[in-house]
Amino acid sequence: MKNTVINQQIQGFLSDPDMIASLANISSVIYYGYSDLNWAGFYFVKGGQLIVGPFQGKPACTPIPFTKGVCGRCYREKAVQRIDDVLAVKDHIACDSASRSELCVPVIVNGEMVMEIDLDSPVASRFDDDFEKEMLKAADDIASAYLQHNWHMD
Ligand code: SME
Repeated sequence: MKNTVINQQIQGFLSDPDMIASLANISSVIYYGYSDLNWAGFYFVKGGQLIVGPFQGKPACTPIPFTKGVCGRCYREKAVQRIDDVLAVKDHIACDSASRSELCVPVIVNGEMVMEIDLDSPVASRFDDDFEKEMLKAADDIASAYLQHNWHMD
């Protein structure tokens, strides 16, 4: 898989042993590195629900139960959710009414989902195959750093 400049910048910040500091910088790398995003950040799997982590964008809905929204479905299915038109998704949770498309990518460590990368765009169908691949690589690198730095959620 090709290592894009954004993936390289993400890897750079993953050398930071502090999880919040690292993910805060990564949310900024993503938010400012791509065009047409209105939210970029993390939801942590914590205490049986999804709790917002470091992000860029407007204030976000938190907590989100596993039963709700695109983020909840990402948790239930442990699979990428790429939504071309959020208005067509009944249980989409609109934190920002400007959002039109969404990409939600699970971060899985030793078979357990620990967090999600969540991205919103004000443009419909913003997220293509290349974008998804880059975020899958980012999720993989975050999972490796999580293990390496002995990060945890409590
Ligand atoms: N749209 C998400 C909620 C999180 S915000 O996009 C930041 C959802 O439907 O779960």
